[in-house]
Amino acid sequence: MSKIISLTKRRGFIFPSSEIYGGFSSCYDFGPLGTELKNNIKKAWWQEMTMRQENIVGLDAAILMSPKVWQASGHLTAGFADELVECKKCHHRFRKDFLEENRCPDCKGDLTQPRKFNLMMKTFVGPVEDEDSIAYLRAETCQGIYMNFKNVLNSSRQRIPFGIAQIGKAFRNEITPGNFIFRTREFEQMEMQWFCHPKEAEKFFDYWKEKRMKWYLSLGIEKENLRFKETAKNELAHYAKRAVDIEYKFPFGWKEIEGVHNRGDWDLSNHSKNSGEDLKYFDEESGEKYFPHIIETSAGADRSFLTFLINAFSEVKGGRTKTTESTKEVEYILKFHKSLTPVKVAVLPLVKNKSDLVKAAQKIYKLLKPHFTCQYDEIGSIGRRYRRQDEIGTVFSITVDFETLEKNDVTLRDRDTMKQERIKTDDLIEILKGKLDV
Ligand code: GAP
Repeated sequence: MSKIISLTKRRGFIFPSSEIYGGFSSCYDFGPLGTELKNNIKKAWWQEMTMRQENIVGLDAAILMSPKVWQASGHLTAGFADELVECKKCHHRFRKDFLEENRCPDCKGDLTQPRKFNLMMKTFVGPVEDEDSIAYLRAETCQGIYMNFKNVLNSSRQRIPFGIAQIGKAFRNEITPGNFIFRTREFEQMEMQWFCHPKEAEKFFDYWKEKRMKWYLSLGIEKENLRFKETAKNELAHYAKRAVDIEYKFPFGWKEIEGVHNRGDWDLSNHSKNSGEDLKYFDEESGEKYFPHIIETSAGADRSFLTFLINAFSEVKGGRTKTTESTKEVEYILKFHKSLTPVKVAVLPLVKNKSDLVKAAQKIYKLLKPHFTCQYDEIGSIGRRYRRQDEIGTVFSITVDFETLEKNDVTLRDRDTMKQERIKTDDLIEILKGKLDV
């Protein structure tokens, strides 16, 4: 993890938040390459969950909602609270369910009795900070979807079964954030809520569980590092009838990256009862009226980011590209799936002190830039530049050399195989589009 964390900072994927003030408790900022990678992950999820489906539509609901939403959903009561214990000696605080023994893991001191700690992030809306102006930052994006169930149904003519998908920020006042971006207090979720007939809920649960697992596999996550984990009945979240986690084998153990939940009619019936609005669905064909059951797929964009990052990370001792500088060093390669990788193509003039070569390389860079995320790099030896590109996961590096000036062709180098082939400059866009599947 320490190698990965330092690479992400060095190459502009992730920076600690408010760093010049010493950082801010488990908050992180995504740098230029991290932003590209995260956007690509969200795009891949959006394509999979909306564009490739016939009956799933998108939504972008507000982060702030009426506090009544959280009262009805059970988040303001014991349902959404962790048990907090404190060491009587060093005063460090822990989540009780994360402890292996009843002593402080840091100093072995005695612990206090557990007390419930609600995870909702509180704020005030308007100029007066009193009981009436309390609001909460959403703890899960799906509540915005339930609030709009009727609106979407009425405006987009959907019929059960159908889904609503949303990507957005969520906030939890976690007692023990940690493991880099694995558990933070501010994070992004990619959630889809599938509304179906109660009799079909189990069938769709199995369907979505398999479909979500396939998504990670299709983007290159190694099969042996993924597994399903059924949540025990006594550990289910307050809203869930059944839950299966998709887990990834992180360097710090098997951990959840996505939850697939059967929420039954918990949300729609509670919101109906508390708001007075009838959220039942009327089936015009059968004449039946009922609360649809909800199958939810809930993935974290940041946890997916960490998963794809760890999965892509590989190191070669002594280096693959044999240059005088590299042979004694370790070379890092981020073998991201081509659709996720932040930079697709790099254009490199063989040397930087020949103006014809530099001009030709810059022309090719300008040609490719509107089509692919592209970098131009002329600093350092060509071997070092290949290594720099490998380290950020660039799929193809194009070298512009003296032959380019005569024959109008370039060398195309593949990140994973390091194979090089000569390509006519005029064919570059088409060939790259084919290879990159864009
Ligand atoms: N709507 C259901 C729900 O929120 P969850 O299991 O609490 O379910 C779903 O969260 C996903 O959201 C998790 O699998 C994880 O990827 C992400 N997530 C939850 N809490 C997180 C945190 N503190 N930091 C980063 N990601 C988090």
